[in-house]
Amino acid sequence: MEVNILGISGSPRHANTEILVKETLNAARELGGVQTKLISLADYDLRPCDGCELCMGHVRGATENQICYNHGDVDPIIKEMLAADGIIIGSPVYTWNVSARLKCLLEKCAALCPAPLTEISYRLRNKVLGVVATAGGIWEGQELVVQTVWRWGLSLGMIVVGAVSTEAFPAGSLVAGIGSGAYSPSVFSKDSVSREKNPVLGRPQIASCRNLGRNVATVARVVGAGLRSLDQAGQSIPPVVTYRRFPEKPAPGSYLEKLVQAGRIKV
Ligand SMILES: Cc1cc2nc3c(=O)[nH]c(=O)nc-3n(C[C@H](O)[C@H](O)[C@H](O)COP(=O)(O)O)c2cc1C
Repeated sequence: MEVNILGISGSPRHANTEILVKETLNAARELGGVQTKLISLADYDLRPCDGCELCMGHVRGATENQICYNHGDVDPIIKEMLAADGIIIGSPVYTWNVSARLKCLLEKCAALCPAPLTEISYRLRNKVLGVVATAGGIWEGQELVVQTVWRWGLSLGMIVVGAVSTEAFPAGSLVAGIGSGAYSPSVFSKDSVSREKNPVLGRPQIASCRNLGRNVATVARVVGAGLRSLDQAGQSIPPVVTYRRFPEKPAPGSYLEKLVQAGRIKV
């Protein structure tokens, strides 16, 4: 059984974060039966969410073909996310948190959460999530980045997976792919996390990324096989319950109006 793993590098550069996300994908692919794809946000000019709420179902509602009504910049990325079984998201630490570019993408996944009631609500449910964070320093915010992305994924129903070792120690982290440019001759260079430039941290941090990649692909396989066998046995998983009642009148032509007309929601 084949699984698709999507890697997303959240840096505006083709640099350290991308190197580590690529390591996760390489290790996943080496398992066999794993297809991988890399998206680098360095190739996208993403803009933050304007809060127009058009993607939300009470106003209009995102569809598989149209997600952000304002810019549409994230649409090709989110389509790839919907097609993946597992997603590995990397971010550089920028002022102790995720990069603004990655934050733009995370914000614009609002229509995928269970509350806004759209055609694509909760479609990241049961997809497997792994996180990579890189920084200049050693303890300079990587874990905050990792937890920010985990929380985002958990709220969308994703299954968070860590970097528990599947190869010999030492690994830099058992929970995520953690990279640090410290000990590199130039902390700010584009490959300061690499084995070559970083003789002290290079090996263990890359081991963590490789563990993470294998774990994400393995759990994606297990989840896929489990869902299929439940399906074959005629056993459905509990549906996601959203609103029974919605306090506002739906806008004409909105997805919510269709749900009201179908008797699924009361206003
Ligand atoms: C705007 C900005 C903010 C940064 N903030 C931090 C920080 O808070 N802590 C840290 O250790 N490194 C910080 N860095 C360094 C980056 O996290 C580090 O160079 C990282 O490896 C960059 O990833 P990239 O090579 O994939 O772009 C910052 C860099 C920039 C440009």
